[in-house]
Amino acid sequence: HMKKTKLFTAVALAIGISTLAGCGGGSDTTSAASSTTSLLGSAFKGPIDNATTTIKDAAGNVLASGTSTLGKFEVDSFALPSDTSEAIFIETVGGAYEDEATKQTVNPTGGLKAVFTVAELKTIIADRKTIALTPETTLLADLVKAKLSAGTPPDAATAIADATTVIESELISGTSPISALSSSDTLFRIGDLSAPTPADQTEALARNRAISFSYETQGRSLSPEKVFELISQRAKDLEDGTLDGKDSNGTVLTETEDPNSAALDDTQKNKYALERTRLFNNTITRIGSGDITEAETSRLEALGVDTSFFEQQNSNNQAAEANTANNLAATNLPSFNRLPVLADEDGDTTDNKATYTLTATPSVDVTINAPGDTWKTPMMRYNNLELPPVIKANRGDDMTLNLVNNLDADSTIHWHGFKIPGDQDGGPDFPVAPGSSKEYSFPMKQPAASLWFHPHPDMETGKQVYGGLAGVYLLDDDISKQLVAENKLPTDEYDIPMLIQDRRFKDDEVDGVSDGVRELLYMDMQMDMDGMLGDKVLVNGAVLPKLEVGTQQYRFRLYNTSNARTYDFALNDGKTFKVIGTDGGLLAQPVEVDHITLGAAERAEIVIDFSQYSVGEKVMLISKGFSGSAMMGMPSGGSGMGGMTGGNSGTGGMTGGDSGMGGMGGGNMPGMLANGQRMDIMRFDITTATTDPVTLYTDLPASADINTQRLTATDATKTRNFVMTMAMGNMGGADGMSNSGGMGGMTFVINGKAFDMNRIDELIDLNEGNTEIWSIQNRSPMAHPFHAHAIQWQILSRNGQPATGIDLGWKDTVLVQPGETVNFIGRFDPVVNYGDYMYHCHILEHEDAGMMGFFRIQ
Ligand code: C2O
Ligand code: CU
Ligand code: CU
Repeated sequence: HMKKTKLFTAVALAIGISTLAGCGGGSDTTSAASSTTSLLGSAFKGPIDNATTTIKDAAGNVLASGTSTLGKFEVDSFALPSDTSEAIFIETVGGAYEDEATKQTVNPTGGLKAVFTVAELKTIIADRKTIALTPETTLLADLVKAKLSAGTPPDAATAIADATTVIESELISGTSPISALSSSDTLFRIGDLSAPTPADQTEALARNRAISFSYETQGRSLSPEKVFELISQRAKDLEDGTLDGKDSNGTVLTETEDPNSAALDDTQKNKYALERTRLFNNTITRIGSGDITEAETSRLEALGVDTSFFEQQNSNNQAAEANTANNLAATNLPSFNRLPVLADEDGDTTDNKATYTLTATPSVDVTINAPGDTWKTPMMRYNNLELPPVIKANRGDDMTLNLVNNLDADSTIHWHGFKIPGDQDGGPDFPVAPGSSKEYSFPMKQPAASLWFHPHPDMETGKQVYGGLAGVYLLDDDISKQLVAENKLPTDEYDIPMLIQDRRFKDDEVDGVSDGVRELLYMDMQMDMDGMLGDKVLVNGAVLPKLEVGTQQYRFRLYNTSNARTYDFALNDGKTFKVIGTDGGLLAQPVEVDHITLGAAERAEIVIDFSQYSVGEKVMLISKGFSGSAMMGMPSGGSGMGGMTGGNSGTGGMTGGDSGMGGMGGGNMPGMLANGQRMDIMRFDITTATTDPVTLYTDLPASADINTQRLTATDATKTRNFVMTMAMGNMGGADGMSNSGGMGGMTFVINGKAFDMNRIDELIDLNEGNTEIWSIQNRSPMAHPFHAHAIQWQILSRNGQPATGIDLGWKDTVLVQPGETVNFIGRFDPVVNYGDYMYHCHILEHEDAGMMGFFRIQ
């Protein structure tokens, strides 16, 4: 059931029939021939077919040459110099290969190289081992050649050892997307890379690194054959022992320079690491859709990745798609809940002052309605309400918001997406103790937006949000009021917030009594490196509800307020809809799409036009299937990843191995619904014929902030870099507690650090400038929604490509895919932006485990 590409199939067939006669060597060196011999080799950049392979001694005399077939070569009958300490260089020139990143055929003028001492080669030949030529052995050969011609050190063995150290420390160490395998991530010189499948993890990682050079070339917008220039400039770069984009004279090496990336000291290494991650992610993504070669599958399996998980997910997705027909026909879907709107306590909605009280209550019996089913779940809620509340406010209002904490733990209310002072922001640095209260007060100084609020206590955010504490905050302004008045946006009744949150529930009878009570399960499976994923998706508190609509346009505010799950929202019939707003407000121009991906905490305002349906029709809002995270199939125990399962050895199944991930995907692991699993979210039943008064706006007025405050890269006064990686746990959290949540072993970090309440990670001095680019790089094997407090940002670029479409809206949270770099720009306002704020991954379990940092604005 897996697709094979012709190339890799051909490679497999070619093995063993590709013995080539060498030309016998053209040189008559003074060294006495110590033996007559035959060298096996593989050229892996492609693999390269029909390249001329030449063996040269240190003086450049050609000892022999031959031709490669599909990456494999054998050079017969040549004599090695008798001085066993001498260096021997092996090089390929010409031939053809398929560039891995672009799939273009490349005819290189130069090629790959390798270097060995005569002594090393003798052993290799005697053992019938195969030497490897890759981009990194090419770096090694170039470096050794430079060292030997400089005479430091004078002997080849030391030069090889020194250059290996430089390459490993400057390029290889710490760049693996699977950091737990870093001990296998070493310079690879001996092994048959023309074989379709890697022999072991070390070799699989070597292939990942070799292919990454093509991804890097693509990532730098260079044509594929430029990879050889990239390699040779990189060798020049490394001659002085540091990878910095400059040669030893300090001259910038143009092919390796990255015009799109901020000037990080280690940009070169980051770039390479990102491309390794992008390659890994690309491969995982293709397994999920069945579009992968057996060679690639076996490469992943050699890394310890359980590919059966992704195959299973693919077939689950197909099953879910087939099941949509049943859900469209179902007569037992619960009704859609509209969320309760809180009233301004001062009773005057026109005085530009608003007061609200939010009482956090530890346990409210919430009725959950699901298709053909109903149960009670005790949840944490505000104001004893069964559903999350809505607060409505206007731009210019002075807000007074009281939190009364009746929980038995510290809590806060964080105002997500608000431009407000740090001490009102409700971060973990301002906890509100059990039984006490806090008054938040701030002016609203930003455009109309779909904002929200939630607790943000140290290490307990995930638990409290999951427990049920979150609310909607709808900010209005004159511009959007005007648009509604002019019938360019739907009115209130047709403007509907939807909180989308996945949850896991205990079975009713789990306590032996069938009392209709199902408690929430939280982080009980010890397997959620992905964060807390539920198997039931609640839309405003109901599972798979139906909303009856008329044949007109509706404005839906989609809030992904799930702890960890990403959704790819679409209509089941593939019809398009318009995105009119992002996290921080309306888009200058609506953007027509047929799906929209929202990571945790991201919001989108969409307009669906039901006039394209007839009364009686039904359409499903779905989340499309995608490859959510490599974590689910991540390497099994023994590779060092066993620790991922934390202390609970009983669920070792997470990491595959004996218990098998296929079983998990197949439903043997109760409560499991992988990120990226296709699902039905809610149904729209077109029940009434109505006339639509609305002609949707096409351009916001020029006076809208999104138009007047549009920023470009040249506005920036500073660039900061944030690199998200997977790391071993206990990364120096304040008290060694950085691994809460049962994710012992591995954790995710930003800039190598776990959150520390006593450390300011970034200091922003507004006297030095107020406009900053934050460059967010994801070098881990899963997507992370990066969120920064304090302001609304604008996305400048993704992987160097300028932002377009939906990315042109205000954003406070950005989903960054593995291997992706997202640059966003923002302006801090001294009137409201002072004090301390957080930036973090909005997968709340990642945040609680320390994937968070502090920034201070002064
Ligand atoms: Cu919605 Cu710091 O988070
Ligand atoms: Cu926030
Ligand atoms: Cu994360």
